[in-house]
Amino acid sequence: MNITSSILYVGVNDKKIDLFEGQYIVPNGMAYNSYLILDEKIAVMDTVDINFTEEWLSNIENALSGKSPDYLVVQHMEPDHSASIAHFANAYPEAKIVSSAKAFNMMKNFFGTDFPERQIVVGEGSTLSLGSRTLTFVTAPMVHWPEVIVTYDNKDRVLFSADGFGKFGALDTEEDWACEARRYYIGIVGKYGAQVQALLKKASTLDIEIICPLHGPILSENLGYYINLYDIWSSYRPEEEGVVIAYTSVYGNTKKAVLMLAEALEERGVKVVVNDLARCDMAEAVEDAFRYSKLVLATTTYNADIFPFMKEFINHLTERNYQNRFVGFIENGSWAPMAAKVMKEMLAKSKNLTLAENDVKIMSALNSESEKQINALANELCGCNVALEEEEEAKSGKKYVCKICGYVHEGELTDDFTCPLCKKPKEFFEEVE
Ligand code: FEO
Repeated sequence: MNITSSILYVGVNDKKIDLFEGQYIVPNGMAYNSYLILDEKIAVMDTVDINFTEEWLSNIENALSGKSPDYLVVQHMEPDHSASIAHFANAYPEAKIVSSAKAFNMMKNFFGTDFPERQIVVGEGSTLSLGSRTLTFVTAPMVHWPEVIVTYDNKDRVLFSADGFGKFGALDTEEDWACEARRYYIGIVGKYGAQVQALLKKASTLDIEIICPLHGPILSENLGYYINLYDIWSSYRPEEEGVVIAYTSVYGNTKKAVLMLAEALEERGVKVVVNDLARCDMAEAVEDAFRYSKLVLATTTYNADIFPFMKEFINHLTERNYQNRFVGFIENGSWAPMAAKVMKEMLAKSKNLTLAENDVKIMSALNSESEKQINALANELCGCNVALEEEEEAKSGKKYVCKICGYVHEGELTDDFTCPLCKKPKEFFEEVE
């Protein structure tokens, strides 16, 4: 596959994998992307998972048509991309290895050598000429490990974005980008929103036409759409108005309360997503919590604590800096309900959470009192809906779309505003109705 006339795809699809990174189900497999840049000098961008070394080396050999690579650029040392470095080094003993100082330290740990005779250490703004193009390296610490660099090719205007803009799924999978990119982002990079924001800021100074990530498809159209989603995710803003109800239920009584609340909300015209934490994909439930503006947590008191799946779920949220949301609570307990108290304590350090005033307390099974509380919570969630929407409207005012590249800007355009993507001034923007 040719990305441009001089950038070739040499990555692989993994259809055998059971759990990505040892925990994420990937029903459509995974792609480990790698690229080869043909210029006066030849660079290979990253390697692949150890189970695909031979296939990858064969892809490189075919793409080279008898030539030899001069450089292997290592942007990220997680083994899904770095495991084949030593094999490449053996296959092409003349090639130099280009990477960050931190990555070379990791190579020593992984391979027992940091290839001292072949190292080219690069940092923020370092450049490497391949002839007709220059590669510029940009540090991207914690997106998703500390050693990460991304690389800009000024000739083809390509950003090699490491894990950034990646998604689950092999490349021959036909599926919506956002769904599996969001699950990937929230699960794997979600904790590092500030670092992703910093990278987006740096990227906004570059003239980018193509994004080549280490997972998922190459992005070459409507880049504003993807960048806008990354901006929302990394700033922890809700992507959509709606209520996610995440619950556990042992004998079905908490579930009854959840379904009653969901129905009450739907009757009021609210978008509702319900996740049974004991049975659904936990990563999908975490993704939903970050996607929507409101969350209701419903669980039982268990061993003077809360049910294990709910505990795990809340830990996933707080680990990933869950914030800027409205949260309601349903607790169940047959003799000493304390689940709501425990859940609130677990969320105590989360920033900018608004907690519902109307908790629902179930003593074993629903009764008229707890049903009234469900109704009150539904009203509060809807009232809050209206209030949030009004506040949002008042705050953000208008949205403008760039007529050239489709980038969407929220809020007023200042006189010196330029499109972060295509660099056009404010005159090229029009208001979105
Ligand atoms: Fe795709 Fe962080 O490795």
